[in-house]
Amino acid sequence: MKRCIYILLAMLSLAGCSRQEPMDVLADRVFSAAREQCLQMDGRLTDQTLPRTIGKNGEFVSSNINWWCSGFFPGTLWYVYEYTGDSSIKELAVANTLKLEPLQYRAKDHDLGFQMNCSYGNAYRITGEQRFLAPIYTSALALAGRFSPATGTIRSWDFVRAGRDWRYPVIIDNMMNLEHLLNAADLFRDNSLRDMAIAHANTTMCNHFREDFSCWHLVDYDPETGAVRSRETVQGYADGSSWARGQAWALYGYTMMFRFTGYECYLRQAENIADMIVDRLPADGIPYWDFDAPDIPDAPKDASAAAVMASAFADLGTLTTSDCNSRKYSGMAERQLRTLASDIYLAKPGENCNFILKHSVGNLPGDSEVDVPLSYADYYFLEALIKYITHNNN
Ligand code: GLY
Repeated sequence: MKRCIYILLAMLSLAGCSRQEPMDVLADRVFSAAREQCLQMDGRLTDQTLPRTIGKNGEFVSSNINWWCSGFFPGTLWYVYEYTGDSSIKELAVANTLKLEPLQYRAKDHDLGFQMNCSYGNAYRITGEQRFLAPIYTSALALAGRFSPATGTIRSWDFVRAGRDWRYPVIIDNMMNLEHLLNAADLFRDNSLRDMAIAHANTTMCNHFREDFSCWHLVDYDPETGAVRSRETVQGYADGSSWARGQAWALYGYTMMFRFTGYECYLRQAENIADMIVDRLPADGIPYWDFDAPDIPDAPKDASAAAVMASAFADLGTLTTSDCNSRKYSGMAERQLRTLASDIYLAKPGENCNFILKHSVGNLPGDSEVDVPLSYADYYFLEALIKYITHNNN
């Protein structure tokens, strides 16, 4: 009798598995919806604007090219083109990438890496067309101009904020900009760019992380001595809390550093961050906006953090040398992608002001962009899907 029950349970669980949508079918479904949304989204834009979010009255909000997110829509178009091969999408990808051409000469903050790598970096990687190459180097040199040997880091922001006395603020998000330096270093054989990226990653590893491998959002340095002046948050719940997207940037940053350099210390750091995140994620794989938000489970979830994590987990699942970790990280990427591709998060074409995903959080303490679509959630979601499908031979 007991044996029969086990067999029945096994059959039921197999039947359950077979009902699950295969990941290649899921990816086709998502990219078909994304293609439709991108075509409609372009109609909302001028030759100076890019998508940002939905405002408090439900209105579409665009940005100019200076907003830190301006590279994400061009990058989203490049991923849709990469997956579908649709030439009309390529035309939009080219046009939206070229909007950012004036940015390349001056790094007003660290975000130039996000802006140029997601747009021009993908444009060159996917097409190999020479016209996209020079702005990659020009902008990487501009970004490198923000590096200081005294702190061993790239300065994130120059502006001052009321009530803060930062002298040389560096936020964990800045790890993401290193990919632009490393890519340009490889393309142009410029080791100085690579050395700066490595120095920044090493300094950040020393100063930004707690014993449990969660991280602070912002570390302020003395620009003369490099001493740490303070450790704070700007977009998280509290200085000592774990802001979800910050943890995602850290995971992605060190996974990417290992992918480019092969240095074991970055793999170990990425795995330690990954294990901390896996232990703390809710069952659906989508974090609350801050892991320590006081109103969990009523706190808003952040799809953007999940999308960034999923992309990093997809890579880390193939980079790790441990079979157990590989299953753990690839499994988490799959879980997050399945939830993001569900009706809860994936918008139907024509809805959601033509953004792909719903339910992200930009800056909750600033009462800005709470439970809305965000262009970077879309970008990293599609990137994660392509990586997952490529790595798992679906
Ligand atoms: N500053 C980038 C972010 O909001 O994650």
